[in-house]
Amino acid sequence: MRFLAAIGALALVVAVGAAIYFFTGFYSVAGTSEDPGIVKWAMVQVRTASIARHATMSPPDKFDEPARVQAGAREFASRGCTNCHGGPGVPWGKFSEGLRPDPPDLKDVVNDLTPAQIFWVVKNGINMTGMPSFALAGAQDQPLWDIVAFLKKLPGVSEADYKAWTAPPETPAAAPAASP
Ligand code: HEC
Repeated sequence: MRFLAAIGALALVVAVGAAIYFFTGFYSVAGTSEDPGIVKWAMVQVRTASIARHATMSPPDKFDEPARVQAGAREFASRGCTNCHGGPGVPWGKFSEGLRPDPPDLKDVVNDLTPAQIFWVVKNGINMTGMPSFALAGAQDQPLWDIVAFLKKLPGVSEADYKAWTAPPETPAAAPAASP
């Protein structure tokens, strides 16, 4: 009985201590204060397990046809992904180096993710990181699958291909400039 009372008292002390620490400003929310190694490790485990459990959708038929890969490149360029992640020949915005966790260079991670996992992440985002939910931002599923098709090919996409696929559509030739 005494033992249980001691555990109860200890739990109370810990709860009050944590409340003071977090609610009176001792805890620093600064992006510059490094998380302890164990917190970083736990965040990666929780993210990986959560994505693996939730990503259950199957890709649409023939979702990785070249036309969809190229459409995905355009979606990737126009929806702002390169600001944080960069792309072939496109540097990420300097500000993204100040995000914690750091947005990864996607060509280094896409081989470890299934199409369903990439789709789930882009659709739903990753809470408490800079990774937005593009469903909340108004994207339909189909352009997001196009992005997945593009990302699965990303490690082999050359800068020239990316540039050609994302170039603005040809505009009718402008009238020749009047000579001076
Ligand atoms: C404002 C910055 C930002 C933008 C814009 C952004 N991302 Fe992210 N993204 C992140 C961050 C930060 C992470 C890492 C989260 C983490 O480590 O838990 C991430 C993670 C990811 C991952 C998961 C990587 C992994 O290893 O699990 C994918 C895939 C991804 N982003 C794709 C995209 C795509 C596609 C777009 C555009 C449609 C996009 N992101 C736009 C910041 C961004």
